Amino acid sequence: MEIVIVPSPEDGGRIAADIVCGAMENGARTLGLATGSSPLHTYRELIRRHRESGVSFAAMSAYLLDEYVGLTSDQPQSYAHTICTELVDHLDIDNARVFSPDGGASDPSEAARRYDAAIAENGPIDVQILGIGLNGHIGFNEPSSSLASRTRVKTLTERTRADNARFFADPADVPHHVITQGLGTISDARHLVLIANGARKAPAVRAAVEGPVSAFCPASVLQLHPHVTVIVDEAAAGELELAEFYRYTTEHKPASQGY
Ligand code: GLP
Repeated sequence: MEIVIVPSPEDGGRIAADIVCGAMENGARTLGLATGSSPLHTYRELIRRHRESGVSFAAMSAYLLDEYVGLTSDQPQSYAHTICTELVDHLDIDNARVFSPDGGASDPSEAARRYDAAIAENGPIDVQILGIGLNGHIGFNEPSSSLASRTRVKTLTERTRADNARFFADPADVPHHVITQGLGTISDARHLVLIANGARKAPAVRAAVEGPVSAFCPASVLQLHPHVTVIVDEAAAGELELAEFYRYTTEHKPASQGY
């Protein structure tokens, strides 16, 4: 696991964009996308590179991490809609190859199984972008999620519903249920890139990176993965015990070693 502490979220966005673009140059064809505020600087940087430097996403497919049960892709609060307005609509990626769990399905559990099978068939995902929730969730895998879990229906904690209420007219409108890639599904990706900014995320980052591997902190599953980059700003790194060592390893990184 490589932990990169950056001065600002903008710097983190540039590094994550470097990872995505570098992977595409090396043949990556499948991206894993996350919604939420954490990846927004990365997405803005990818859009900028597409517009100003001609970086093309025409050959790419993308899979979203999660979706609310009961919301269809034409509803603005759905993650399928959100990822279009934040990223997809601004790139040359074919919208028909941007996939998300079907939140409007009459049988959400079956939709989850289908989605997992589609990722297994068309994957592996080359680069998976991740944020982290205040309680250490990734995707919508709340504490107690099996570290081997597959895409399925989950129930949100009240805290996560409250954190996401800002996107809804009424907090009561936040769905209770979601379809999320499981921790095992996420771990099938070749390269996991977790982005966290701000002091509120510091305890979750510490638990994920330096705590025990435990379903209590779902993001700690990253410790079991062979290729992980954690990009945190100074505030989110504020509780890391080995922060000095992480800075040292970045400064002394062998020139030949990319992310
Ligand atoms: C939601 C999403 C996660 C995201 C998390 C953190 O719960 N399902 O994928 O990582 O929020 O969001 P933010 O980046 O806005 O802090």
